[in-house]
Amino acid sequence: MRCIERIRTRGLTAQTIRSFQKLMYQHYLEHQRPMPWRKTRNTYHILLSEVMLQQTQVERVLVKYREFIRAFPNFSRLAKAPLAEVLRVWQGMGYNRRAINLKKLAELIVHEYQGKLPLVPEELIKLPGIGKYSASAIYTFATNKPACFIETNIRRVYIHFFFGDREGIRDEEIMPLVEKTMDRAKPREWYYALMDYGVQLKKEVENPNRRSAHYAKQSKFEGSDRQVRGMILKTLLHSSGITKSSLGKKMARVPENFDQIVDGLIAEGFLKKTGSKLSIP
Ligand code: ADE
Repeated sequence: MRCIERIRTRGLTAQTIRSFQKLMYQHYLEHQRPMPWRKTRNTYHILLSEVMLQQTQVERVLVKYREFIRAFPNFSRLAKAPLAEVLRVWQGMGYNRRAINLKKLAELIVHEYQGKLPLVPEELIKLPGIGKYSASAIYTFATNKPACFIETNIRRVYIHFFFGDREGIRDEEIMPLVEKTMDRAKPREWYYALMDYGVQLKKEVENPNRRSAHYAKQSKFEGSDRQVRGMILKTLLHSSGITKSSLGKKMARVPENFDQIVDGLIAEGFLKKTGSKLSIP
């Protein structure tokens, strides 16, 4: 990978911006990662990919994205599908709350937006499961219009090039640089190039994101409540309508806070309790 000198924020001249853009695009030309959501203009597909990529690796998303679209080809079909079916297809992605939110989002689009995704960040951010990053990313990828956003790979690139050895760098400090260096003629391609450079950078230097004020190592999955929640849902997808004690017997491990985890899943709408029987709503 070719590398230019790290850039000083103050010295952000038109020339530096051009060199930075050239470097990103050169790398992108030679090493871009082909992904189906980068080739489509279908807004449902673009939204789905962004939700999936929020917390899951590209390799896994590549498989699930196709599977999900085959099962639920548009907002309308997703809105009509039973939640248990959506969770079944989502299995293996983790962070199941995203599947519940996606279904709620599809219902809203069908019933309140005449079946069309609103393509403005201010509207997108109101939808369930869509935060600031996703709203801007979906807007740019669906319309090819410029919006400023940062995710983990983009953050890595800016910290590496623009902040020397500084620690505790906040996204608020990165954002003006994202704005100034953006290729406004081709924002969609520009962000793909940035993301791909960020992936490459991770392999070549000690992770610059450690110097981000927002850096948090993902907590261990093994032994976590998240793992138990996944196990409970998986068990109930196979044998719905069972009591809490039968559920416990079917699981490989029952933690001390099992009751609390089950109650949490009910409160969040993942599970339904009818009498003493648990099921997926
Ligand atoms: N292409 C479009 N969105 C992406 C994302 N969130 N991560 C990686 N590549 C992408």
